[in-house]
Amino acid sequence: MTNTSTHSKPILQDSFGRDHAYLRISLIERCNLRCTYCMPADGIKLSPKSHLMTSDEIYEIAKTFVKNGVTKIRLTGGEPLIRKDIPVILEKLATLPVTLSITSNAVIIDKHIVNLKKHKVNKINISLDSLDRARFKEITLRDQFEKVYKNILLLVKEKFEVKVNVVLMKGFNDDEIIDFINLTKDLPISIRFIEFMPFDGNKWDIKKMVSYKEIMERVSASFNNKDIIRLQDASNDTTKNYKIAGYQGAFGIISSVTNPFCDSCNRLRLTANGKLKNCLFSASESDLLTTLRKGQSIEPVIKKAVEAKFKVRGGMDTLKKLQEPKLHNKNRSMITIGG
Ligand code: 5AD
Ligand code: SF4
Repeated sequence: MTNTSTHSKPILQDSFGRDHAYLRISLIERCNLRCTYCMPADGIKLSPKSHLMTSDEIYEIAKTFVKNGVTKIRLTGGEPLIRKDIPVILEKLATLPVTLSITSNAVIIDKHIVNLKKHKVNKINISLDSLDRARFKEITLRDQFEKVYKNILLLVKEKFEVKVNVVLMKGFNDDEIIDFINLTKDLPISIRFIEFMPFDGNKWDIKKMVSYKEIMERVSASFNNKDIIRLQDASNDTTKNYKIAGYQGAFGIISSVTNPFCDSCNRLRLTANGKLKNCLFSASESDLLTTLRKGQSIEPVIKKAVEAKFKVRGGMDTLKKLQEPKLHNKNRSMITIGG
């Protein structure tokens, strides 16, 4: 008789031995902004409401992940706070033994402070690509800069741990790198510069991307080298972290294009219509919601999806492959992934 092992591999471990303890859940495909690198110009085809996870379904699916080793859940969108039942979702997820966090554009976050605090959502990532009102409008197609900026100050005052995501685009906002870093002089926030990445419909061109190397060249040209301090990155951190000596906050770079961090990836993504993506760049998806609605166990589906995860960027392991539209256009638009 052959020897059958009783110690099977955890279902959240992939074929490269990576354990996935971090689940990002997109709550909604809609947004109150229209960032051009995220939302295609002619819009997206929204899933019918009946195809979106209800708050109970989100909770059921999340519970299964937590049972299998997830310790960290981040809520994303679209804009997660425009979902009407966000208080209910927070309340349900807060009963699970996880660290809950959220990524938002901060336009309406002032109305949610009490709820976020009540459910111990302390880590908040805010998307903000320009400190100039006209430019903000140009990129988001909405005139909401002042609200967002005021809300960032409010979050800091309310003692949230705030990170600000800045997608850099050449000739558009790369002249603001130092302005953003200067914000960290008096504000205890972390600015994260993100290399512009290709997704369906976002007119990506590698020439628009500002690389890790270029960002650090700008920083070196503006500050004394001895004042630019490389910080210790947390495990599974996607960011290379720095700070300027004496400044309250920090800054970092997310170099998914020029220097991917897939080796230490611990993330899985669940879309608002209940599909599991094993990678931000994966073209394939696994339908957990339909399985759940049929009354079947979602664990085998999760296991299969995790096992199929590629080593690097959904199989686009070279810059050349990432640049091929026929490869990166198979993926969704960012608006329905949630970063
Ligand atoms: N490239 C890089 N970052 C992106 N984001 C959205 N689209 C892109 C892209 N094409 C970022 C947003 C948001 C986070 C969830 O993902 O800035 O903060
Ligand atoms: Fe909305 Fe964020 Fe996409 Fe901008 S990047 S359109 S704020 S989801």
